[in-house]
This record gives sequence, C-alpha cells and structure tokens, in this order.
Amino acid sequence: MAADWTPDSWRNRPIRQAPAYPDLAALEAVEARLSTYPTLVFAGEARRLKAALADAASGRAFVLQGGDCAESFSDFTANIIRDSFRVLLQMAVVLTYGGAVPVVKLGRMAGQFAKPRSSDTETVGGVELPIYRGDNINGAAATLAARTPDPLRMERGYFHSAGTLNLLRAFAQGGFSDLHRVHRWNLSFVERSPLAERYRDLSARISETLDFMAACGMTSESSPQIRETDFYVSHECLLLNYEQTQVRIDSTTGDTYLCSTHLPWIGDRTRQPDGAHVEFLRGVANPIGLKVGPSMDADELVRLCDILNPGNEAGRLTLIARMGADKVEAKLAPLIRKLGNEGRTVAWLSDPMHGNTTKTSSGYKTRSFDAILDEVRKFFDVHEAEGTYAAGVHVEMTGQDVTECLGGANRITEARLADAYNTFCDPRLNAEQSLELAFLLAAELKERRLPDRRHPVAAQ
Ligand code: PEP
Ligand code: CO
Repeated sequence: MAADWTPDSWRNRPIRQAPAYPDLAALEAVEARLSTYPTLVFAGEARRLKAALADAASGRAFVLQGGDCAESFSDFTANIIRDSFRVLLQMAVVLTYGGAVPVVKLGRMAGQFAKPRSSDTETVGGVELPIYRGDNINGAAATLAARTPDPLRMERGYFHSAGTLNLLRAFAQGGFSDLHRVHRWNLSFVERSPLAERYRDLSARISETLDFMAACGMTSESSPQIRETDFYVSHECLLLNYEQTQVRIDSTTGDTYLCSTHLPWIGDRTRQPDGAHVEFLRGVANPIGLKVGPSMDADELVRLCDILNPGNEAGRLTLIARMGADKVEAKLAPLIRKLGNEGRTVAWLSDPMHGNTTKTSSGYKTRSFDAILDEVRKFFDVHEAEGTYAAGVHVEMTGQDVTECLGGANRITEARLADAYNTFCDPRLNAEQSLELAFLLAAELKERRLPDRRHPVAAQ
C-alpha cells in the first residue's frame, strides 16, 4: 500500500468541488451502508484494463473512451444505455478495421454522475441557488429543495451504476456484440445519413472476412473474440464521500482497489498535487486517468506522475489532454517532451470536447464538430512530431439523435440546437457525429500507423 495512505486520508487535505451536505448524520449513515454493499467491478478486470492501457501507451492498441458528460437518473432506461453502447461498438469496429489495431472500449458510464462546476451558485429568476452538481448530489430543477445536496442520492447512484453495469455486461458478453451482428448495430435515424452508406460498406467487408474465417474453422462458437467483447467503465472520481465507500482489498493480491469503476479519473479542476482527489487515488491500484488542461505546467505534471505513479508502471496513468484546438500544439508538445526526458510511461488521450466549448447568442453551450476534429488532428500531429503515440480519444457522445454540437455531415446549425438539446451538462456528439469522428480517426490511424498504406479500408 502507498505510504501513509488510508481510504480516508483525503479528508485531511484541501478539497475543491465538495458539496455542502446540511445533515452530516444522514451523510454518515449512507456512507456506512454503502461501505457494506457488494462491489460493482472486480480487481481482476481493472488489472486487465491496465494491461490494455499499457498496450495503448506503446502503440499496440487504441483507446476509445466515451459517453455522457453527466449521466442522469431519468435516462436510466435499457434503450438509452443500449444506444450509447452500440454507437461505441460501431466506432470501435470502424477503428479496429480501419486502423488495424485493437480498440480498448471504455464507457463514461455506470457512475458518471458528479460534475465539477465553475461556480458554487447561480441566480435563477432573481433567486440565488446552489449550482446543480450531478444527480448523485442534487437535482437539476431550479428550486432550493432540489438543489440541496441529499446523501440518499449517493445510494441511488450506486444502484443506477449497478443496473447499468449489469446491462452493459450482458450486451458485451451475451451475444449482442457478436461481430456477425455488425450490420445490425446501425441506429435507424442514422440510416438516412451518408455515414450509413460507409458503415454498410464496412459491415459487408467484415461479414465477408467472417465467412472466410468460418471456412477456416474460426466461428462465434470456437472464438470468444468474435462472439463477445471487453467493455470497461470509467467516471470522474469527484464525490469522494461516495468513492471511499467502494474501496476494497483484493483477496487475490492483497492490493487496494476502488471498485466503483474500472478507471477513475481526476478532473482538470481537482488535480492539485496536495489536494484531496490526488491523495485519494494515489492509494488505489486501478489504472487512473488525469485530465490535463492548458494551465498544466510541465514540472507540476512530473510531480503528479511522482505522486500517482511512483513506480512508473505501464498502464497505470492515462493523461487526457483537453487543451482546445487553438492551444493544443503550443501546450501539449512541452509536456510530452518533459515526460519523455524524465522517462515516464503514460498513455495520452485527446479529449477534444472540453477545450472547445462556446456559447451561442441564444445561450446554448455548444461545440463545433470542426473544432473537435481540428484538435484531434493536431493531437496526432504533435505526437507524430515528438515520436510518441496518440493512444486514444475521450469524447462526450450519446446514441440519441440530439442536436447539441454544431456541424457534422448533417450540418447542425445554431438555429437547430433547440430541436433536441437534452444534455444535463455539456453538449455531446450525436450518433451520426460520433460515427463520422470514428471514420476520420480510422483514416488518421491508417495513415500514420500502418506501414502498408495501400490497405484498402475506411479511407476518405
Ligand atoms: C468532464 O469530463 O466532463 C469534465 C468536467 O472535464 P474537465 O475536468 O476536463 O473539465
Ligand atoms: Co463534460
């Protein structure tokens, strides 16, 4: 175990973004109950993910991390979960086929409830209210009752996570993800899109390949790799009162794991080296993520690596760069170079969402698809120039037909944002935009990674 660390040692550190619970006795009672509940994920799964992330860090795999900005209790339906899962599967298959690289599938799902906010309060209709912090803390409705942090929401969050994970495990392993079903993953509203045509074309090629493999004796029955997939979950490790209750000792290794999710990450607002969130995650053996925004200083990043990954273990630390399209080149290169000089092993992902948020004149928080693509391309460029690997992407997306981000093949305009602007926090790519991003990423991977660039797949 990490020196001087206990599951509650974070409580002695300065903490940001913590909700002010009015009833501490009620909070303690919920924490005590949650500490006795069965774990949501298993240590062995977290170890497998760590090994997969080590592969991604060295260019032998590519990470696709995606899901809602904020999951909500009201979106807890089989169809909504299935649709997000199947878009992630579609994106993964496009990347696997186009880039000829194994894809590590990681949902922002089954626990992505708590949100960091830039202000503690907001004024609605002349009344100052506590800000909405995510469904496991308070409610989004603009009333004092809804906005008052309620510890019972942590317990609901746990059960929502359990239900979501149960369904995801069934989808991943119960037949839905069998590659023979690749053409059936398309969502009906994407059918009309130019992307659907490209996806159908890709599915046909995969089907042909599967027929060939079957003739060689490799079928769904004989090969679990065709029949099922590994799907992992992740969320921002923000609400430490909840997370602490999910710390367990793994009986196989004796190591301490956070069993609320496979990969917890530290947000850009809570990554202070001496702060509570860094203290908490340094003591668990999971693979962990760290958001890296434009204010990150290279020496501070090295210090964070020292604290979070003192043994420089491959797969332990995934850095998620969220710089903004206009800053990524200037900000990322010095960080990569510094870590290279210090011999640090990390997997770098691009989050092209959070540095590209704008507000329209009518007040919608949005992101332009072009800016998102621009940041991802520059992320690849910087890695190529530095001789390192772009190990993956981290996106906010949904399987629903929303209109939250501008542009894409369907050219969503400002005027159309109001049609289906459903997010509880930040704007997400819809299914069609997600698929379009996957095709572009596959082309980048093919162009930059495959030695034989004549490989006739997924190009423009
Ligand atoms: C997020 O991922 O939703 C988020 C708040 O990101 P960041 O910490 O990078 O701002
Ligand atoms: Co967000």
